Amino acid sequence: MRSKITVVGAGFVGSTLVQRLAERDYADVVMFDIVPNMPQGKALDMLQAGPVLGYDSLVTGTNDYADTANSDVVVVTSGFPRKPGMSRDDLLKKNQEIIAQVTEQVVKYSPNTIMIMVTNPLDAMAHVALHVSGFPRERVLGMAGVLDTARFRTFIAQEVGASVRDVQAYVLGGHGDTMVPLSRMCTVAGVPIAQLIPAERIEQIVQRTRDGGAEIVKLLGNGSAYFAPSASALQMVDSIILDKKMILPSAIYLKGEYGINDLFVGVPAQLGAKGLEKVIEVELSEQEQAALHKSAGAVKELVNVMGM
Ligand SMILES: NC(=O)c1ccc[n+]([C@@H]2O[C@H](COP(=O)([O-])OP(=O)(O)OC[C@H]3O[C@@H](n4cnc5c(N)ncnc54)[C@H](O)[C@@H]3O)[C@@H](O)[C@H]2O)c1
Repeated sequence: MRSKITVVGAGFVGSTLVQRLAERDYADVVMFDIVPNMPQGKALDMLQAGPVLGYDSLVTGTNDYADTANSDVVVVTSGFPRKPGMSRDDLLKKNQEIIAQVTEQVVKYSPNTIMIMVTNPLDAMAHVALHVSGFPRERVLGMAGVLDTARFRTFIAQEVGASVRDVQAYVLGGHGDTMVPLSRMCTVAGVPIAQLIPAERIEQIVQRTRDGGAEIVKLLGNGSAYFAPSASALQMVDSIILDKKMILPSAIYLKGEYGINDLFVGVPAQLGAKGLEKVIEVELSEQEQAALHKSAGAVKELVNVMGM
C-alpha cells in the first residue's frame, strides 16, 4: 500500500510541498485548508501535471479532516502571517490557537502519525503540537534546521565556488535571530572552511544566514520564502517515509541533551520510520554551548508568553 501524507495549510509553503511530494511518487497526498475549494482546485491542477511529469501520486484537496485519516506523516504549515499593527506576541497567540485546533483534528483522525511542524514561530508551535497531541517526542518534529543549514551551505558554496553538494554544515538552535551556525564544523569536501575563507568573511556569511528569512521577505515585499522551506520539509518526509535514517538538523523536544530540558531546539537528529530515532550530541565549544543555551532561552520566552 502507498504511504499517505497530509499537508495542513495549502498556502505557499504547503502547496509547494505537496507538488514536490507528488513528484517523488512514493505516497498519496492530502492537502487540507480552511479556505473553501482552494485546496481542491490546487490538487486538481497538480493531478493534471502527473501525466506530463510521470507520477501516479493521488493528490486530494479538502476542507474535511476525515479525508486525512490514517496519514503516516502530517506536515503542518497552516498559520497567519504577521499583519500591520500586530505584535510578535499577538501573532504568537493567534498561531497558537490555530496549531492547537489543527493538532486536535490531526490526532483525532491519525493517532499514529508523525507530525512535522513548519508554522512560525517554529519552536513554539512545535511545543504546542507536542502538548496538545500527547504524542511522544519521537513523533513531533520541527522543520527549521534543514532550511537554515541549506542557506548557510548555499552562501559557502558561492563564496568558494564549490558545488553545494560538497558543503557540509550544521545550524543549531532555535529558528530565529539566535540560531547557531557551527562554522567550526563546516567543511567543503572535508576541508574546514577556516582554511578556505577568512574569519571575518565567515562571520558575514553567518550573519547573512541568520538574516536569511528576512532578506527574502524584504525582496518579496509580501509573503516569505517557500521554495527552500518546502524542499527542506520534503527532505525530512523522505527520511521518515523511506526510512533513510538521515541525520538532519531538526527542532527536537530535548530531554537533557545539550543540557536543555523540555524545549524544542534545533539539533542534529536521525530521522527514520519511527520519526526521531536518535538525537546526535556533538561536542560543542564553550562559546557554542553558550550560544545554544541563549537560543534555548529565546524559545523559553515564547513558551512563557503562551502560558505553557
Ligand atoms: N519553519 C520554517 O523554516 C519556515 C519557513 C518558511 C515559512 N514558515 C512558516 O510557514 C507558515 C506558512 O507559510 P506560507 O508562506 O505558506 O503562508 P500562507 O499564508 O501562504 O499559507 C498559510 C495557509 O494556512 C491556512 N490556514 C490558516 N488557518 C488555518 C487553519 N486553522 N487550518 C488550516 N489551514 C489554515 C491559510 O488559509 C493559508 O492557506 C508560516 O507560519 C510561515 O512563517 C516556516
